Amino acid sequence: MQIEKVFENNEQWIAKKLSVDPHYFENLSKGQSPEILYIGCSDSRVTAEDLMGLQPGEAFVHRNIANMVISIDLNMMSVLNYAVRHLKVNHVVVCGHYFCGGVKAAMQAQDLGILNPWLRNIRDVYRLHKTELNTITDENQRYNRLVELNVQEQCINLIKTAAVQNAYKERGLKVHGWVFDIQTGKLIDLKIDLEKELKGIREIYDLG
Ligand code: CO
Repeated sequence: MQIEKVFENNEQWIAKKLSVDPHYFENLSKGQSPEILYIGCSDSRVTAEDLMGLQPGEAFVHRNIANMVISIDLNMMSVLNYAVRHLKVNHVVVCGHYFCGGVKAAMQAQDLGILNPWLRNIRDVYRLHKTELNTITDENQRYNRLVELNVQEQCINLIKTAAVQNAYKERGLKVHGWVFDIQTGKLIDLKIDLEKELKGIREIYDLG
């Protein structure tokens, strides 16, 4: 791909949008009221709006390596607080994907420098679910199960935050755990029972 091509693509995209609605960009500039906060992986194969069929303005997006929700990550927490408290999204989604390079790296004994502390959070997910994961003999299956469990744990990290707890009480904000299957293009809802999870951890993580 030639980098100049991006600007040609952009011109074509503008023309296409304006041919359908001459006021498209004018309206876009007026503001946003997305329904969804999407937290996904930075992986170039896993887009956000594209795979959900959403248009600009419909999803607030945060992406990082392996779709992690880490309480001291100022970037993630700023996005979360802005989306939940100010934009008042009604859904927060953590979307992982099978064959995630970040999750794979965390399963290997390898020094990856600055990535070590980031990936350690995935190793912690492994440790929490070691009993289940170690019963899976097929390496790819174990790897993809860790992808799912990582999504689940990141959803639990979301419900530990005051922003999510308050919005849940106020307006029934919902947290969803999804996985994108790169091999089929399918988006899978892991149907994590977060109300049950919240009940199980409320005595420890309740922020009042
Ligand atoms: Co990934």
